[in-house]
Amino acid sequence: MERDALGYTVALGIPELRARIARLYGEWYDVDLNPNRVVVTPGSSGGFILAFSALFDAGDRVALGAPGYPSYRQILKALDLRPVEVQTAAENRYQLTPADLAGIDYEGAMVASPSNPTGTMLGKPELSALVEAVQARGAAFLSDEIYHGIDYDKKPVTALQVSDDVCVINSFSKYFSMTGWRVGWLVVPEAQVRQVERLAQNFFICAPNASQVAALAAMDATEELQANLAVYAKNRALMMEGLPKAGFDRIAPPDGAFYVYADVGHLTDDSRAFAAEILEKAGVAVTPGLDFDPERGAGTLRFSYARGTAEIEEGLARLKTFMETRG
Ligand SMILES: Cc1ncc(COP(=O)(O)O)c(C=O)c1O
Repeated sequence: MERDALGYTVALGIPELRARIARLYGEWYDVDLNPNRVVVTPGSSGGFILAFSALFDAGDRVALGAPGYPSYRQILKALDLRPVEVQTAAENRYQLTPADLAGIDYEGAMVASPSNPTGTMLGKPELSALVEAVQARGAAFLSDEIYHGIDYDKKPVTALQVSDDVCVINSFSKYFSMTGWRVGWLVVPEAQVRQVERLAQNFFICAPNASQVAALAAMDATEELQANLAVYAKNRALMMEGLPKAGFDRIAPPDGAFYVYADVGHLTDDSRAFAAEILEKAGVAVTPGLDFDPERGAGTLRFSYARGTAEIEEGLARLKTFMETRG
């Protein structure tokens, strides 16, 4: 950074970073990826805008599993696209299945594994079946893989292990802990690179140069990154033990990310009011499920454990006391 002027970079991102990201696919998944297919973006949020604009025309429908990350819906709507929210089932770990998509009209489908808010993942057979079902109707498959690297008992599967004709979205925000640096990436089929490049040039010119340089260095900070992961793993174990003790025992098994999604339908029919009560009386911030799942979210809460372990211990103790006094 001291050597360079930090002017604009080329629209697709600095070549060293694109090559290093391609190498990550070899390291993590044994996938041989051509760096030309990697597009560096201003966070995955910039990646969504770019991917949706490149893949779809106004009015196209994009199937999303609910509960899911709320900004998918909002970005799609802002681009004159139509989110089709499909209710997923607890027995499918709140992930989409081909059966959920049967009978629905759509030009694209998007999954997140591990997901926000549930942390659940799609295994390789499940992901393959979904990709196959979506491609069979000529629709585009998008895979938000932003929580890859933050996994515990099993490894996440990239959609690139299943097909080359997919759009993968990823970011330096989560495993690489670089939220505010605004840098992420897409992997797109070779035939789409030029179109994405033209859009990227016009939308953003480039992802922040300094962030790209830092991201390249972050990719080799393995010791520090694994130390962060160890904290998440400890926190997760505390959550899995402490939440049921506090009365939150209807939870989706979180394979990755740093969230636990709980069904609190037996405790409230208004998760927003419940979250406000928890904040006021226990001093613990939890997220009502409404934004993740407008249909069923009044009966769900998302707990995040992306903090220091001492804070998680304190939060769990407070939740337990709060629930005991609430009765
Ligand atoms: C599933 C998911 N995708 C994308 C994002 C956006 O991340 P960013 O724009 O920082 O890469 C988030 C942020 O929390 C998320 O949870």
